[in-house]
Amino acid sequence: MAGPDLTLDQARQQANLAFTASGTEFAFGDAAALPLPIAQMKALSAGSPGVETLHDGGLTAEVLCLKHAGRRWAVKRARPVCRVRNIEGQTSFLNELQRHAELAGLRLPGVIRPVYGSLRDGLVVSPWISGRHPGVLDERQARTLLETGCALIEHGFFEWDYSAGNLLDDGERIWLYDFGYCYRFDPLTQFNSAGHGCEHPRHHLAERIEGRHLFGALLDAGNDDEALPHFIRFKRLAAQAYVDLADRLARRGATPPVLGHYRGLAARWHQELAHAPGLLYLASAWQAHSSDLDDDLRGRSCTPRTLQRAQWLQATLGAQGHRLRRSGALSPDDAALDDTALLRRYHDREVEARRCQL
Ligand SMILES: Nc1ncnc2c1ncn2[C@@H]1O[C@H](COP(=O)(O)OP(=O)(O)O)[C@@H](O)[C@H]1O
Ligand SMILES: [Mg+2]
Repeated sequence: MAGPDLTLDQARQQANLAFTASGTEFAFGDAAALPLPIAQMKALSAGSPGVETLHDGGLTAEVLCLKHAGRRWAVKRARPVCRVRNIEGQTSFLNELQRHAELAGLRLPGVIRPVYGSLRDGLVVSPWISGRHPGVLDERQARTLLETGCALIEHGFFEWDYSAGNLLDDGERIWLYDFGYCYRFDPLTQFNSAGHGCEHPRHHLAERIEGRHLFGALLDAGNDDEALPHFIRFKRLAAQAYVDLADRLARRGATPPVLGHYRGLAARWHQELAHAPGLLYLASAWQAHSSDLDDDLRGRSCTPRTLQRAQWLQATLGAQGHRLRRSGALSPDDAALDDTALLRRYHDREVEARRCQL
């Protein structure tokens, strides 16, 4: 049924639903490299010998930390029924296995390499990363995360979810290990994996990191004045990373729109960082908080962080509405409302977010 006018999402979902329905196994790696036989890996529970911790907050999987023969392993097991009840939820474990299988041979910096994964067994087993989830990104964390993100893009992987729970810092660098929302695209002709690849340039690596992670962490770091230097540091590094990324893509024959996309963003940020960093902060923070609030409301997955975001949006509208309009950050839909109506819209969203807390 695949046709040229399907979006990338639709084509992927159709193929993966059909694959799941066929009952075909999908596996990668070497089961002989596992610390225990597969049957024992599948039967592990929080009380089994060697199991040190259990993360079961996830929607699609639970992760056990298993210590065996002096080494620690992350044992990720699919839930029999995913808690995300939509097509992406039904196929997210398969999607994650596919990404790991494709990434395995590439050895990208900061990308975990599981030893084994299987759809039938509902398992992905990886070396345990001993580290911490990052907060406000310091220079080393930002550099290493951007390095990994750019390497993924260059190889045709678009990662959507850079939230803190999907990032670990081992003291040397940031690692990625959850590829449940990482989709393929063509980095030489497309911006990302949404639509047909070219309709949504608003979504790109730095935007994903800022939206899913950085601006959330900055809410804990203090007020906007205190957050500003952290933001400036990240944006400088992101601008440089995009210049370098564009140069590498250019050598491989990327199209002018793709090169213009990264170079244009980098040039704009360099310019604004030099002349009006506060305004760039305001616009970026607005976009990050408003789009993440929308995502949480749509996914009915609101948390205390969602409420913090809704409150920041209202406080900022009240105190800096005029600057905000001038920054160009408001969506056309928001910009069409007067100040009172716009404030009411975000107040209503906060009320709704309170109703759909996880
Ligand atoms: N290889 C690993 N090393 C250390 N911790 C891990 C590893 N893989 C997962 N975790 C921990 O388990 C949690 C959930 O894992 P994740 O892959 O993000 O699952 P989910 O799909 O449920 O979000 C992570 O936030 C992290 O704390
Ligand atoms: Mg995760």
